[in-house]
Amino acid sequence: MNFFKSISGQIQGKSLRQLVANFRNEYISNGIAESDLKENPIDQFEVWFNEAVSNKLREPNAMHLATATPDGKPSGRVVLLKGFDERGFIFYTNYSSRKSHELEANNYASLTFLWLELYKQVRIEGIVHRIPPIEANHYFSSRPRGSQISAWASMQSQPVNSRHELELRMEDIEKEFSGKPVPRPENWGGYCLAPTKVEFWLGRSNRLHDRILYELQADNTWTKQRLSP
Ligand SMILES: Cc1cc2nc3c(=O)[nH]c(=O)nc-3n(C[C@H](O)[C@H](O)[C@H](O)COP(=O)(O)O)c2cc1C
Repeated sequence: MNFFKSISGQIQGKSLRQLVANFRNEYISNGIAESDLKENPIDQFEVWFNEAVSNKLREPNAMHLATATPDGKPSGRVVLLKGFDERGFIFYTNYSSRKSHELEANNYASLTFLWLELYKQVRIEGIVHRIPPIEANHYFSSRPRGSQISAWASMQSQPVNSRHELELRMEDIEKEFSGKPVPRPENWGGYCLAPTKVEFWLGRSNRLHDRILYELQADNTWTKQRLSP
């Protein structure tokens, strides 16, 4: 709404290519007080995630996952957080996908959460490992049957000739597992990103935002440092 107010009167005769530089919103928040921060960034993440959930944000567990090839070519995509605990942040995917190929060759990755309505961003970096198959089985069995079947039907990130081909594959697999539970495909499972750096960003007025960076130390404790916006 603010955006439309701020650019109304300028729109006529101009394209979005010309107008995009004028998209501008103030971020108003109470800021981060060091005294309120938890010692451990996973506990601090829980506080912010709880706020995102209780404010009923859409897909609060959606996060951007950045991976890179060993020679440094990055790629990004959104995945869903499906668990977090003292080990780190868990997501599920197809182990034959592009992201998995990149993670298997270079297991340093980053996650970014954006909770725009709260003017909050969390950036997480660390090492990714596959979670144990038994844990993946447990999560897979909790998924809706349609999602379980599509995990078998989709060779994620591989070219496919048509939508029709995918739908036929779904039908075949539905028939194959008719009346039976759908087991987890071997090439589908979870990863856990164990954080070594976590940054909490909170938007403030005049772009003088708050940033707090947690870094894991050799003795497994965390330091906290305020960064310039
Ligand atoms: C909101 C949202 C949630 C998604 N969640 C997942 C997910 O949990 N796991 C997954 O593999 N892909 C998920 N995707 C699809 C990925 O963004 C991506 O298209 C897919 O994983 C293939 O990526 P890759 O070719 O880089 O491996 C999601 C996409 C969106 C927009």
